[in-house]
Amino acid sequence: MRVTMIGSGYVGLVSGACFADFGHDVVCVDLNTAKIEALQRGEIPIFEPGLDALVATNASAGRLTFTNDLPSAVAQADIVFVAVGTPSRRGDGHADLSYVYAAARDIARAVRGFTVIVTKSTVPVGTGDEVERIIRETNPEADVVVVSNPEFLREGAAIEDFKRPDRIVVGIEDERARPVMEEVYRPLYLNQGPLIFTGRRTAELTKYAGNAFLAMKITFINEIADLCEQTGANVQDVARGIGADNRIGSKFLHPGPGYGGSCFPKDTLALAKTGQDYGTPLRLVETTIAINDQRKRAMGRKVIAALQGKARGKTVGVLGLTFKPNTDDMRDAPSIAIIQTLIDAGARVRAYDPEGMEAARAVLDNVEYCESAYDAAKGADCLVLVTEWNAFRSLDLVRIKDLMISPVLVDLRNVYRPNEAEAAGFAYTSVGRRSGGEQEDTISSAAE
Ligand code: UDX
Repeated sequence: MRVTMIGSGYVGLVSGACFADFGHDVVCVDLNTAKIEALQRGEIPIFEPGLDALVATNASAGRLTFTNDLPSAVAQADIVFVAVGTPSRRGDGHADLSYVYAAARDIARAVRGFTVIVTKSTVPVGTGDEVERIIRETNPEADVVVVSNPEFLREGAAIEDFKRPDRIVVGIEDERARPVMEEVYRPLYLNQGPLIFTGRRTAELTKYAGNAFLAMKITFINEIADLCEQTGANVQDVARGIGADNRIGSKFLHPGPGYGGSCFPKDTLALAKTGQDYGTPLRLVETTIAINDQRKRAMGRKVIAALQGKARGKTVGVLGLTFKPNTDDMRDAPSIAIIQTLIDAGARVRAYDPEGMEAARAVLDNVEYCESAYDAAKGADCLVLVTEWNAFRSLDLVRIKDLMISPVLVDLRNVYRPNEAEAAGFAYTSVGRRSGGEQEDTISSAAE
């Protein structure tokens, strides 16, 4: 099949490379000339494990090309995916659909013959209807069907998620789209195909509902973690205990500094706005947003509490800046609010992240960027683990302690066990667990 991908950002590039790997002829389009030229030279503008090799293999096999010539890429396509950005609109939190609608107009002018137009960008309910209206208004002759096919890719695991999805949701209003969608996902479809066909509005809402549910699940365990700290219970055991119930499930029950990233914050906000617009306020989602926003700064205050309430003049080392490991993405990363809270309280911050420091420099000044985790610990009164990169899971804690002025460790991802941190001489704080014998995870006590 001839596949055209409009938008060569994170979703477009990963999806385009994976479709090419399925054997389709894929053209990735972007308005950004510098980005396309870089891609043509084989340079990948984002950090995503395995993407370089996937792009290189398929580009050299001639199945994956890059262009800014949208009209010819659309004219020759059987199926056109729209994977442009839908950022939060400044001021009101609604999704900004201007890029999607601009793409719809460009597609309408260029399309030749029967073509399936698929919205992959995360868009509010009803956007597919509007895309279809724009196309018909711009070019009444256009022979198109408009489909919603939201993506569920996690950064850092996007290729795996694309190739081994739990499900593929396809929202159609015209049966002519069905065989084309089955064909484009043929390798997955033949493999017990987790294709779920629905109406278009249902598919659009499914994406938001899924992300909002996950955000709510994280926020729930974060609140339970706070209660565990007050009551002397252990949140990791609570998570294990409730997660073993299949109706709940064990994933997304890791407490931490709050969710961040390019999807959860913007999608929960957009869903809440949709609820308000339709006179059906989604109170659980609205509350999730508010709790998560407060949590990020609260984590900064937790660090200050570990410094006995005195941050002024103190040096805090921060390990991990990106919103999660295996990405260089700083969008809505909890580290930003945490570091800001520390700086506002008069602390000096030294930070290290394996991949995110370039992006961090753009949003966080007044931070000293370090060469390594050990470098960040040097001369610190407190060390805070914010993002659970693998590189931070097996640090030499004794060496770290010797580099610090005072051995205070705040582990916001529960990477270490309280007893091992304390054995290394640290005053140790984590999330939802108190230090001390009775508070050890049963998992760790059983192993000892
Ligand atoms: C998410 C969705 O998982 C994906 O399906 C969707 O397409 C895009 O949004 P992503 O933003 O890449 O993917 O990150 P994800 O791995 O889901 O993590 C989101 C945030 O939640 C991170 O800040 C992470 O640290 C946090 N998180 C996740 C927790 O705090 N606890 C958990 O148990 C899981």
